Amino acid sequence: MDAFAFIIHPLSAKRDVARKYPLLGRVLPEPAIDFFSRFWPPVYISHVTGVRSLATGKEIEGWLIAVPYTVQRMLHLSPGEVYRKIIAAGRLAERLGAQVLGLGAYTSVVGDGGVTIARALDIAVTSGDSYTAALAIRAVREAMRRMEYEPAAVTLAVVGATGAIGGVVAEGLAGEVGSLLLIGRDQPRLESVAGRLRAAGAKDLQLSTAVADIQRAEVVITVTSAGGYLVRPEYLRRGAVVCDVSRPRDVSWQVAQARDDVLVFDGGLVQVPGAVDFGFDYGPPPTLTFGCVAETMALALEGRFEDYSLGKNLSVDRMQEIDALAEKHGFRLAALRSFERELPEETIARVKANLY
Ligand SMILES: NC(=O)c1ccc[n+]([C@@H]2O[C@H](COP(=O)([O-])OP(=O)(O)OC[C@H]3O[C@@H](n4cnc5c(N)ncnc54)[C@H](OP(=O)(O)O)[C@@H]3O)[C@@H](O)[C@H]2O)c1
Repeated sequence: MDAFAFIIHPLSAKRDVARKYPLLGRVLPEPAIDFFSRFWPPVYISHVTGVRSLATGKEIEGWLIAVPYTVQRMLHLSPGEVYRKIIAAGRLAERLGAQVLGLGAYTSVVGDGGVTIARALDIAVTSGDSYTAALAIRAVREAMRRMEYEPAAVTLAVVGATGAIGGVVAEGLAGEVGSLLLIGRDQPRLESVAGRLRAAGAKDLQLSTAVADIQRAEVVITVTSAGGYLVRPEYLRRGAVVCDVSRPRDVSWQVAQARDDVLVFDGGLVQVPGAVDFGFDYGPPPTLTFGCVAETMALALEGRFEDYSLGKNLSVDRMQEIDALAEKHGFRLAALRSFERELPEETIARVKANLY
């Protein structure tokens, strides 16, 4: 049977370690977990079964493997040390029989976005970022439709526009929205993304290095590796639609609580075709998964065992290709969710009512 593997890692040290080791998660304080994570080898988590293509009936299997580093660890260690642990996890995937490996959350962010890791391994590698971007675009289109926003009349802000996902999301939506506000930390890098978008036909572009400038946008996609809460309640305009793709999130629960006149939802969740059993609770509801996991599964269902999304410059063509492949095999955008719950219709109605 064709097979994939996917690497996960703890986003919240205590909560996520407790999912695998309830006792350790309960007794160890967060700094201790963070400290020991450096010496812990990659961990076999579970066998994934029941993923079946709607188009061909083909079934695949897979494995979840954890790299024990927390986000803070990965941000502070040298990329070389982090690569070594991820490559060791990749070797475990090879021994299990996987033909394609997906890099979850920060394991795809670190260093060169998977290029060095792919070079070191014998199996195909993908960051899953192309399908994550495609799903964020789908989710934002759906939210604009439900908020009755006319895309050509809105300003869309992309926070993290100089990143892999942010860049391709901005390019993918540039032709649909009235105006595009690219936000990043580094002006020359922003200019370079803007140059690429202009060459692709984007017209009304604004650049900023201040996250607070999202105040100008009706629609915000935030997709950074800031590692924590970046978007503050006072930055958002009334009626703002905010798609948070980042893991850990850029928008905290407190923002949603403080601002009941904005719509905050997760980007990138998708329904898996077949009767999937992940064998482990790694966060999403049982039949849903993240775009990066789904991209890895879709490649295995298609038998495309080649490096797919790697590096920091993703192409719109690849994003559209994987979107079509996933659609063909039966992956579907999940209902919009906000902080682990489906976004209720009343919330959308309330935000709309507050607009005028
Ligand atoms: N939901 C999902 O299914 C899914 C799937 C894959 C990835 N993700 C998440 O998506 C996010 C981005 O991934 P990526 O691969 O696009 O990462 P990336 O290529 O490393 O890009 C990260 C972006 O964040 C910006 N940034 C970093 N720290 C910042 C800070 N303190 N303030 C403002 N901007 C900051 C970077 O700006 P500079 O250019 O200045 O460095 C860059 O634009 C990550 O959180 C990742 O975990 C989610």
